Amino acid sequence: MQTLTENAPMKELDEWDDFVATRYQQGKSEEEFRNYKPDANPGVTEFYRLNHLNQTVDFVLQKKAQYGGLTKGLKSIWDQAEYLNTLVDDSDPDTDLTQIQHLFQTSEAIRKDGHPDWMVLTGFMHDLGKVLCLYGEPQWAVVGDTFPVGCAYSDQIVFPEFFAANPDSKVPEYQTECGIYERNCGLDKVHLSWGHDEYIYMVTRKYLPEESHYMLRYHSFYPAHRGGAYKHLMNKHDQEMFQWVHKFNPYDLYSKGLEKPNLKEIMPYYQDLAAKFFPDKIAW
Ligand SMILES: [Fe+2]
Ligand SMILES: [Fe+2]
Repeated sequence: MQTLTENAPMKELDEWDDFVATRYQQGKSEEEFRNYKPDANPGVTEFYRLNHLNQTVDFVLQKKAQYGGLTKGLKSIWDQAEYLNTLVDDSDPDTDLTQIQHLFQTSEAIRKDGHPDWMVLTGFMHDLGKVLCLYGEPQWAVVGDTFPVGCAYSDQIVFPEFFAANPDSKVPEYQTECGIYERNCGLDKVHLSWGHDEYIYMVTRKYLPEESHYMLRYHSFYPAHRGGAYKHLMNKHDQEMFQWVHKFNPYDLYSKGLEKPNLKEIMPYYQDLAAKFFPDKIAW
């Protein structure tokens, strides 16, 4: 195991992450974040069109049932990291970061700032749920900002105009402020659009502390952790725990472009760290 390769760029999936990073560039005003033109990046626009069209209550419940039983096999986190790196876009062999490099840049930045070891490990694992792509899920069901389904769409979600085509937008009980949820019911009861956040949370929740659950499960929930939306669905505990989502987000967004981690040097530390929290193999 543990011979992670560094030479497998995954351009297309990264496109979304890069788009988010541009949106939330340090020093950019709120106004500028919202000022993207659909023509500026047709790939991203088409991605959000499909995402907002297809992420319905039924779809999310179906995916939670499909993956919630963790029946995709027993694998180590190294197996999955290596597996994730096999997603290659041959059309663009240049210098884009591999998924593994993004994971290690995130975790190394967290480590350098002296955060607890479980947070370092969380940084390393936060995007491993993208293996959903390798299970055959379309990108719009793996990446992208997440948002609650079954209630009104916030205008803090990117490209909100695309929701008009979502079948749920025609269901009146899904379009009130709280929709199918009780006010302040807590996010655990709220179904977010399906993607890599919820999946990695399901896989790791037995092993990592609750702060880590929040970081993993809500790291793409930009409408809430950046936009401040959906407070009416959160309970007090969520509001308190969101400090951890906020703490985590800059490492996800701004660690790209830092020094390329030297895998040979850092792997022994990460092997020990993973062994402290996880058995050799876990259910995916
Ligand atoms: Fe992510
Ligand atoms: Fe990430």
